[in-house]
Amino acid sequence: MKALILAGGKGTRLRPITYSLAKQLVPVANKPVIEYGIDAIVNAGIKEIGIIVIEDNSPIEESCGDGSRWGAKFTYIVQPDPLGLAHAVVTAKPFLGDDDFIMYLGDNLIKSSLGDLIAEFQEYRPAATVLLTPVPDPTQFGVAEMEGDQVVRLEEKPKEPKSNLALVGVYLFDKVIHDVIAQLKPSARGEYEITEAIQGLIDRKMTVRSHIVTGWWKDTGTVEAMLDANRLILEDIEPSQLGTVEDSQIDGRVSIAKGAQITNSKVRGPAIIGEGCIITNSYIGPFSAIDRNTIITDSEIEHSIVLQDCEIIGATRMDGCLIGRGAKVKQGVQKPSVLRLVLGDSSEVTLP
Ligand code: DAU
Repeated sequence: MKALILAGGKGTRLRPITYSLAKQLVPVANKPVIEYGIDAIVNAGIKEIGIIVIEDNSPIEESCGDGSRWGAKFTYIVQPDPLGLAHAVVTAKPFLGDDDFIMYLGDNLIKSSLGDLIAEFQEYRPAATVLLTPVPDPTQFGVAEMEGDQVVRLEEKPKEPKSNLALVGVYLFDKVIHDVIAQLKPSARGEYEITEAIQGLIDRKMTVRSHIVTGWWKDTGTVEAMLDANRLILEDIEPSQLGTVEDSQIDGRVSIAKGAQITNSKVRGPAIIGEGCIITNSYIGPFSAIDRNTIITDSEIEHSIVLQDCEIIGATRMDGCLIGRGAKVKQGVQKPSVLRLVLGDSSEVTLP
């Protein structure tokens, strides 16, 4: 069995962060989202992994490398235009050949391990296995209509969903999926939908197995989902203290990387502070992930993701923020006290 990770696409719902960073590289608990998927696939014993990217020498390739870090072999497959998940499979056909494969959407995070799922697929040999989970707003997802434990219909982002069961971004396929995809037409939104390809299997009376995901699952495509994923990962974080802590209080599970300096501050876990961060006279509250080399002074921040190389000075209190690499947030010292903003396209600021 091979694996195909989809890390193309445009990430429009995470702008402006995704103008300069692929959404699959946005960190959750200081680790790029895509690496959680890679970990899960490698832990399930799969070593041949194709990764769909939008360009040659992509930042994803630069970040993840050739797979040797995981003892695996990565093949990068360029899909310049994001014409849909099924189109990504067509693009990857030379890599996939006639092998069974697990397809993992690079912006998804799931907690369940994949090993049992793969073993079951190999035992029963269905045409496909899909994962489902109940969600509050199914209109944002592929949705399954069930009869007992059988999937009878799948619909992509329906206006009037027939159930609350969303398709999770992890699928297992036999080679027959390629025949169905070859006959697909673009959907109303102009994409070749994998959801319609799986419906094609059902229409041809082939077996499509389904599983309800019991552990949590997140599609990290929006800021809220990203913060939520960060919270869920941090809930299980292993505490460690490799940096220096002076005149400070560290409560609960906090991971402090080497080279980080925390002075005269309070950090309340679960939280993670990356390598080389300098935190002074500040409060870092629960569910905060501060990535490497960020400086936080005289500030209060919680339930937020701050990427690397940021400077946050005199900011109280930041909550529910996603701050891109190298951003600066500073308290003004001159009068009159005005808001002075230099915001990228599609930025969002909420005033107190
Ligand atoms: O997250 C689960 C949902 O993912 C499912 O419920 C839907 O049925 C499925 O269509 C998909 O919907 P999204 O709208 O969330 O898909 P998105 O466009 O965000 O793409 C998912 C991943 O695949 C993302 O990492 C980008 C990548 N991608 C996307 C497209 C359209 C590609 O690599 N190539 C593409 O052409």
